[in-house]
Amino acid sequence: MNSDADILSLLMRRRAGYSLPQAFYCDEDVFQADLKHIWQQEWIFAVPSAELPKSGNYVTLQIGAYSVIIVRGVDGAIRAFHNSCRHRGSRICAAAKGSAPKLVCPYHQWTYELDGKLLWAREMGPDFNPQEHGLKSVHCTDVSGMVFICLADRAPDLGGLQKQAARYLGPHDLGNLKVAHQSTIVEKGNWKLVLENNRECYHCSGSHPSLCRTFPDDPNLVGADDASTSNVGKTHVDRCEGSGLPAKYLISPDEQWRFVRIPFLGEAVSYTMDGKAAVSRRIGTVPFDNAGTCLYFHYPNTWNHFLSDHVLTFRVLPIGPMESEVTTTWLVHKDAEEGVDYDLDRLTEVWMHTNDEDRQIIEENQIGIRSPAYEPGPYSPVQESGVIQFIDWYAQNLEAALIGRFRVAAE
Ligand code: FES
Ligand SMILES: [Fe+2]
Repeated sequence: MNSDADILSLLMRRRAGYSLPQAFYCDEDVFQADLKHIWQQEWIFAVPSAELPKSGNYVTLQIGAYSVIIVRGVDGAIRAFHNSCRHRGSRICAAAKGSAPKLVCPYHQWTYELDGKLLWAREMGPDFNPQEHGLKSVHCTDVSGMVFICLADRAPDLGGLQKQAARYLGPHDLGNLKVAHQSTIVEKGNWKLVLENNRECYHCSGSHPSLCRTFPDDPNLVGADDASTSNVGKTHVDRCEGSGLPAKYLISPDEQWRFVRIPFLGEAVSYTMDGKAAVSRRIGTVPFDNAGTCLYFHYPNTWNHFLSDHVLTFRVLPIGPMESEVTTTWLVHKDAEEGVDYDLDRLTEVWMHTNDEDRQIIEENQIGIRSPAYEPGPYSPVQESGVIQFIDWYAQNLEAALIGRFRVAAE
């Protein structure tokens, strides 16, 4: 059992540059603190807007006890609502995704418009006011084609994110792509292990033969620091910027999100086994095929790759202290035809392999951490600077939230 005071004490005593104490990866109380202070406070990546191309298209997602519906309205706007009926609270949409002209509760058929207004409720008497019983909204914003939601009463300021996303992601025209494929896998590992694993490529050469054909595992390119500190990174960044394609390493002041455009290995232009393009139609206004990949992470739950021929989004959701869901979405030009402009197996094989390899790594990491013999170990300052940066972000945010709670309680 870990109270908030225990968790704060553990956090304050943690050794910087080392993996976290066991409880942070295994314990139910820490998991609940993560949900409350991180997942229910921060902006969470939900879907690429291209996954909801038409009015009535919806997806649902679960964040802790919250179920949320994200739906495109008849006016084209994407909105998010709590997936809980204003009659007696039934979940309205049980499916992970679907399409509906109205949102109809399955229990007594209260019927809501796609903008959340209650349209119809049978025999509720003369005093009933439908206007007081619309769906409760959840903060929702479209960041250059990536839809984020926030469960907090007051959503945090996005800072310069909208502007910078328009610069870095705009050339990939995410809103005009289509979903070519999506995979959702469950990994038996704490969500932070999933993020930690993403933030380093120390493991890549030993685990990712398919990815390593095209993706550089040079820590100067993929670590916490400016990619242009390496010669190859600088040449690439200069070439892209010279053509008007934003590429320079940019991290937000609070280090929650970062953009950088890095080159692929050699002549490669895409994540394929031979390094050649996966899709014959280039997307957006990317000026050349070998633009590498624009890497965009946003804590706590997404990292993404923006290429010249397709885009890959990754969404992590926490299921339990030792279980997470990872959804990968492959997006291509909306007019690209499968079998003509791209072959689906060719487009997806590198990351299908890579995701499965990462799942195994994370599950083994989790099993090892559960052992009473586990103790926090040192991150490599050369290879794992990105992990150190993520863990510091997490620890500082959780610590600030817990200290804030004690301060409020003391007043
Ligand atoms: S609980 Fe939804 S209509 Fe009754
Ligand atoms: Fe990996």
